[in-house]
Amino acid sequence: MSLKFQRITKYLVLSAILVMSIHSKWAKSADPELESLSRELLEAARQPELFGWMKRVRRTIHQNPELGFEEYKTSELIRSELESLGIQYAWPVAKTGVVASIGSGSKPVFAIRADMDALALEELVDWKYKSKNDGKMHACGHDTHVAMLLGAAKLLQARKDQLKGTVKLVFQPGEEGYAGAYHMLKEGALDDVDAIISLHVLPTVPTGSIASRAGPVLAGTGIFTATITGVGAHAAQPHLSRDPILAASSAIVSLQHIISRETDPMESEVVTVGYLKGGQARNVIPEKVEFGGTFRSLSSEGLTYLRNRIKEIVEMQSSVHQCHGVVDFMEDTPMPWPVMINNKALHEHGTRVVEALLGRSKLEVFHLTMGSEDFSFFSQKMPAAIFVLGIKNETLKSDMPLHSPYFFVDEEAFPVGAAFHAAIALSYLENHGGTIKCV
Ligand SMILES: *[C@@H]1O[C@H](CO)[C@@H](O)[C@H](O)[C@H]1NC(C)=O
Repeated sequence: MSLKFQRITKYLVLSAILVMSIHSKWAKSADPELESLSRELLEAARQPELFGWMKRVRRTIHQNPELGFEEYKTSELIRSELESLGIQYAWPVAKTGVVASIGSGSKPVFAIRADMDALALEELVDWKYKSKNDGKMHACGHDTHVAMLLGAAKLLQARKDQLKGTVKLVFQPGEEGYAGAYHMLKEGALDDVDAIISLHVLPTVPTGSIASRAGPVLAGTGIFTATITGVGAHAAQPHLSRDPILAASSAIVSLQHIISRETDPMESEVVTVGYLKGGQARNVIPEKVEFGGTFRSLSSEGLTYLRNRIKEIVEMQSSVHQCHGVVDFMEDTPMPWPVMINNKALHEHGTRVVEALLGRSKLEVFHLTMGSEDFSFFSQKMPAAIFVLGIKNETLKSDMPLHSPYFFVDEEAFPVGAAFHAAIALSYLENHGGTIKCV
């Protein structure tokens, strides 16, 4: 009895020691070098000189917002700051875009992207650095993305001799519906890039935290315009018409059946009709009706399926009503935007950097949404991952949604963003330096 008790005790003690040793190994940073590098970068980014400069750059851009492919002053400001830091750049890339390079000039090449354009929106936040351009506002935080990437430029330039490869800083025009990413790729400015990341501010995540997830993170998105042509007539003589209003009504109802009856309930897909235009008078059946909308999916197969069914349904429902239906998917713009899929290895690398930089408690899960980002064009060409930086502080009211006229940013997040950029780039090159390994 007592022998058995002793054996059990011994077993329990040994198990406890084993569990404790595993636990303490996990509790400690997996990579002390990465931790000290990250903390050093964060400390440097918090210095009043660098932090104050990021705020000034951001506020200047915030006060002078420019729309997609019109970011002339923003681009000029970026170039002049890069020049004062002694950093070389290529310009113009896709009209106003700038691609700066720091490091050895050879492979591997790690890229970080910041978008530059504002939204056509009147700012309703009353603060000292409110937009001075009527009807334009940085309500998606692109001004902060530029400032933090410039902050990272300064941190990386101070360590340029340590870089085991090249960091490219990609200042991208036209994210808000202009597919600027596609146009930068088309110009070949990123042909030598081995991996790319982007950090987007998000008002649902607390200031100073970073969120991420692997795999699909944002929807692939298409748009469509449907035109249905019939024969107009007096409202009292409907038999003489071929009514496009009725055809459009049937088509719109049928479009809603794609999601409810054709797609797997476990798949995430959207079909939304956002506008409908046709006719002018109560007593006239018009000749033509136009409507348009968006379709979204978390898989490229889903996106193709939706596109083909929208075309089929509009054309065939028009035929049923003896009208003629045509659908335009604006594929030359280009559309659709691909699904944003976070590369698993890059996501894991970014996660390790967040843990080293801020500790595990500041790492959040990025919740899937059916929103979209043209950064997904990069993800089709190279390993890519998008991360999210928290800016939420209720005291400052920096918890208003993206694209709201009340959108406001907690600038305390800037040092975290700049240090994250620099740390992920430095450690990527450290891990891949000398070899051209694919992540
Ligand atoms: C939010 O902002 C206020 C005002 O700047 C500050 O005092 C407070 O510490 C911030 N809270 C957090 C959680 O960062």
